[in-house]
Amino acid sequence: MPVPCFVANWKMNKTISEAAVWLREMEKCQPLLPASGWEAILAAPFTALASISEFLKGSALKIHLAAQNVHFEEKGAFTGEISPLMLHDLGCRYVVIGHSERRLQFWETDLLIRQKIKAAGQAGLVPILCVGETRRERKEGKTIRVIHQQLKKGLRSDDPKSGATPNSRKMILDRFIIAYEPVWAIGTGETPTPSEVETVHREIRKFFKPAMGEKADEIQILYGGSVTEQNIEGFMKEPDVDGVLAGGASLSAETFYKMIDRGIKAKNR
Ligand code: PGA
Repeated sequence: MPVPCFVANWKMNKTISEAAVWLREMEKCQPLLPASGWEAILAAPFTALASISEFLKGSALKIHLAAQNVHFEEKGAFTGEISPLMLHDLGCRYVVIGHSERRLQFWETDLLIRQKIKAAGQAGLVPILCVGETRRERKEGKTIRVIHQQLKKGLRSDDPKSGATPNSRKMILDRFIIAYEPVWAIGTGETPTPSEVETVHREIRKFFKPAMGEKADEIQILYGGSVTEQNIEGFMKEPDVDGVLAGGASLSAETFYKMIDRGIKAKNR
């Protein structure tokens, strides 16, 4: 069973001093959680990563650091960009890639996302790949097809020698997290039902089976989109929901702590 995983995605929120307040609050709450058997990841804005990394070095706070975006080259003439090497150097272990806000507002394509995933893996970062359908695609019954495409283009090797059939072709890297984030559920207060989420998560796991076999059972598949302390238990009770990626609700340390607490309890019940 994958370890339950809780991601706080702050998006473009929090200055360095606001981040410090959040960390100190989390530090107070965390001893109330079980000592092991879960993990938390904080995807902070670039500007706060260095100070958070420093804070974590001197703290017992159990949270891994993630960036929310990355470039696909190690270095070079890419004004305004941040490389995977730089993130690794800062103490990041993870990086969110392919968030729908980047796909839709910054025209990120599956090809670009794939390059980023590859580069992140090479630099020793674990990508958190976000996939999900738009409202229209959902209405047209295309949810699974869209997600399969995103997974295939983002992660599956295009080298025919890497598998007996196209479906069994290897992934371009071994370690990654998937976040299923229906675009229409992000920041809207609307969500699919837990059983609808479970259906999609099961399909996602099935996608990896031909290439990865039993290893597919270890992939952490998270749900994201208007997760709150009120609705998290419903999602976490589902067998293929291994955690959540929370945006708005993660801005409060107290709420994020409660979500972790309720999420772990729902999983262990
Ligand atoms: P939300 O954001 O929790 O505010 O809906 C989720 C996300 O974008 O990852």
